[in-house]
Amino acid sequence: MNIFEKLETSSPTLPKQYNEMNANELIYRIRTIKEKMGTKLFLPGHHYQKDEVIEFADVRGDSLKLAQISASHHDAEAIVFCGVHFMAETTDILTGEDQKVYLPDMRAGCSMADMASFDQTEKAWSKLMEEFEDTIVPLTYVNSTAAIKAFVGEHGGATVTSSNAEKMLKWAFTQKERILFLPDQHLGRNTAYKLGVPLKQMAVWDPLNEELLYEGDKSEVRVILWKGHCSVHENFTVANVHHVRETYHDMNVIVHPECRREVVALSDKAGSTNYIIDTIAQAPSGSSWAIGTEMNLVNRIIRQHPDKHIISLNPNMCPCLTMNRIDLPHLAWSLDSIAAGRPVNRITVNKSTALQAGKALKRMLTRA
Ligand code: 13P
Ligand code: SF4
Repeated sequence: MNIFEKLETSSPTLPKQYNEMNANELIYRIRTIKEKMGTKLFLPGHHYQKDEVIEFADVRGDSLKLAQISASHHDAEAIVFCGVHFMAETTDILTGEDQKVYLPDMRAGCSMADMASFDQTEKAWSKLMEEFEDTIVPLTYVNSTAAIKAFVGEHGGATVTSSNAEKMLKWAFTQKERILFLPDQHLGRNTAYKLGVPLKQMAVWDPLNEELLYEGDKSEVRVILWKGHCSVHENFTVANVHHVRETYHDMNVIVHPECRREVVALSDKAGSTNYIIDTIAQAPSGSSWAIGTEMNLVNRIIRQHPDKHIISLNPNMCPCLTMNRIDLPHLAWSLDSIAAGRPVNRITVNKSTALQAGKALKRMLTRA
């Protein structure tokens, strides 16, 4: 049973009445509580949230912006995080002890974060230490559990987000000869490749078979990629890029670096969520874009830029299912429970984990 299955079975589920309320009633409840609580309540929202939810966000951002805001936002007593579990954990780590963080639906996890468990990471580390001795510094994408961030913090490493991965890899190479990059192999590979590390100097750690996969000379390996991926971004394929190129002569292809290396290589541009939003906003009117990222965001960008021809790189894409778990009924339930003094779905990271994970996050935030 993974952490989300455990949480799911041990957490209260949405009371039936919220599913029976219509949208107007839910919106009225959310608005009323927001107005009543004022600055005591804070709602950060990730760009992948659905429109009905992001509309209520006090601030919307990518993972980096939301982590930065959490670290500097000390007014709110209750923070209701509209995003996924690891983001709420990060917020709990970076906020004060008197601030409480809630996730409207405990099932809003992240399949990528689940791909690296603490036990797997400890085993991998001891095998890699035997192999390469003390030459490795760990980096973890923020899309990982607090336990993994703590492991990384304790071993001198740092977190990264898709918008500062290059900067953080450069920093890591000033610390040690080699990097272990968790849990997204694609972000790690794309970033290291951009920095000039050849593919033959990258190996993959397979946590299920507990083996190191590599093609070149083992002693020359500089980046060890954890065999994890985003189940949303892996759905953009080389065939999708070829199809767009064959169908439209003037289409620019822009993708998130959680996409596979081959897809990034064929694209015109690749970058974080913010990079994608800014690039399209600054593009000339009439330009055409095929975007390879999460569908709630792509649909929003399409609506915001009616003067541009914008499509999803994969016409059959769906939104991130776990991000989509946060909806009006869950948000209304969460706020009602806080207003009534019986809050549900609090996210807490234990003190020792938070201390070590905080080190990894702070190493990133001071350089971001
Ligand atoms: P960023 O917000 O860093 O672009 O990450 C994308 C993502 O997959 C969040 O879950
Ligand atoms: Fe996780 Fe991918 Fe969804 Fe982001 S988009 S929350 S990485 S599954």
